[in-house]
Amino acid sequence: MDTSYIQVTPIKQSKINTVDFNNLAFGTVFSDYMFECDFKNGEWQNPVIKPYGPISLEPSARVFHYGQAVFEGMKAYKDENEDIFLFRPDQNFKRINQSAERLAMPAFPEKFFFDGLKKLLHLEKDWIKKGVGNSLYIRPFVIATQPAISASPANEYKFMIILSPAQSYYAGEVQVIFAEKYSRSANGGVGFAKAAGNYAAQFYPTKLANEKGYQQIIWTDANTHEYLEEAGTMNIFFRIGDKLITAPNNDRILDGVTRKSIIHLAEDNNIDVEVRRVSVAEIKEAARNGELKEIFGSGTAAVINPIVGFGHGGEDFKLPKIEQSYASFFKEKLLNIQYNISEDPYHWRVKI
Ligand code: COI
Repeated sequence: MDTSYIQVTPIKQSKINTVDFNNLAFGTVFSDYMFECDFKNGEWQNPVIKPYGPISLEPSARVFHYGQAVFEGMKAYKDENEDIFLFRPDQNFKRINQSAERLAMPAFPEKFFFDGLKKLLHLEKDWIKKGVGNSLYIRPFVIATQPAISASPANEYKFMIILSPAQSYYAGEVQVIFAEKYSRSANGGVGFAKAAGNYAAQFYPTKLANEKGYQQIIWTDANTHEYLEEAGTMNIFFRIGDKLITAPNNDRILDGVTRKSIIHLAEDNNIDVEVRRVSVAEIKEAARNGELKEIFGSGTAAVINPIVGFGHGGEDFKLPKIEQSYASFFKEKLLNIQYNISEDPYHWRVKI
């Protein structure tokens, strides 16, 4: 792999010694370098690595006005031999371009994506700490930079990768509320894409939910609010009896990499998994008759996050505390693959 064409502007001094790696609030500390590449005159050009820091954009840059922006979430892991791994990075590459296409943005070239990412991670290898649970969160993103405020796609963009050392995404127990009024996405919309605006649109209803003591909303279908879809920062799984159920992908739901890995692991481990619509009524009924054993969310940042209870229609339901949960089973399987502890029969782990 020849990445010498990617120029590196060196930092004056690393910040690494100022960081408390045992007390990281998710996404608040960034490493020394970032990767940047611009789209101008119809092509992606000038991929560079430079010190992490502010970028300068005109106030008229379209991203500020129309939110033409997409992103990805990935992680780098280190094993006991100091080797560095990614988990199914091909999926993130594919998805950022699917998201970009939906927002009328140009596809980012595979070579720049992987050369830039690998070179950046090698430079920043000391920011990836050993030990299960430690990782370097990778945030690739694309923004519309063209200074022009007519409501149409830009002809200039910036692709960047920034890195943030991470431990867990959610601290403490997660209690959710099922959406009854607000929606995250609609048929034919951008729900399947990692579009920045999908997340901003959740902030207000999530703030209302937080005020009532719930950490997250499980979004329901926008038409009827009768079917459970995803949590906005996570896909969502339900366990009724010994059956695992998750909603099918559609244009409202993010095609989660962790989600699809769990479905695969379930099938391979003889766990009965159904990918089908899940109704609010079914989950409430299962909670009432004691058959609802678990709800958990899955995502790159959150990995697998058990949900301790949910609210809907003015009622609150508590999930039982169970031994040998599916959540811990899948989490261990995933982490063992990600940290090079177990075999990886699926070839999901990529050494860089
Ligand atoms: C991820 O899990 O990587 C995401 O992009 C979700 C984000 C809200 C942190």
